[in-house]
Amino acid sequence: MRTVVIILAFSLIFAVGAAQAGNVEKGKALFNDTSLGTNGKSCGSCHPGGGGLEKAGGKKEFNIMGKKQGSLEEAVNFCIKLALKGKPLKEDSQKMKDIVAYIRSLGKK
Ligand code: HEC
Repeated sequence: MRTVVIILAFSLIFAVGAAQAGNVEKGKALFNDTSLGTNGKSCGSCHPGGGGLEKAGGKKEFNIMGKKQGSLEEAVNFCIKLALKGKPLKEDSQKMKDIVAYIRSLGKK
């Protein structure tokens, strides 16, 4: 009985951990999905295949169209608002984590 409880507890911890980490494949799909915005564009329309964002994962500060952004999440939301005319994502949402994981993966190739 006790082993079952321990195994269940570990599976739960593992499942929660997996849900919190960003998923690169899902992030890539979102990156190329026009549903993040309202103007028919996706991130990939301007950053095809993530091109040009290879260094973004390691940056602490961003300057996009003359505006400073203090984190990768802010930079992503800035592009969602301005470039896609969409609603910004919550910084701790799964979608944001997935997109950030995808962008960070670009620099590791
Ligand atoms: C209409 C074109 C356009 C679209 C669509 C767009 N961006 Fe951008 N993005 C830019 C421009 C222009 C810059 C600033 C120049 C640069 O760094 O390439 C930029 C910069 C960035 C940066 C900072 C890069 C750096 O190293 O400073 C990130 C991160 C980024 N975009 C992510 C995204 C994401 C994620 C999406 C989709 C939600 C997106 N962009 C959609 C045009 C766009």
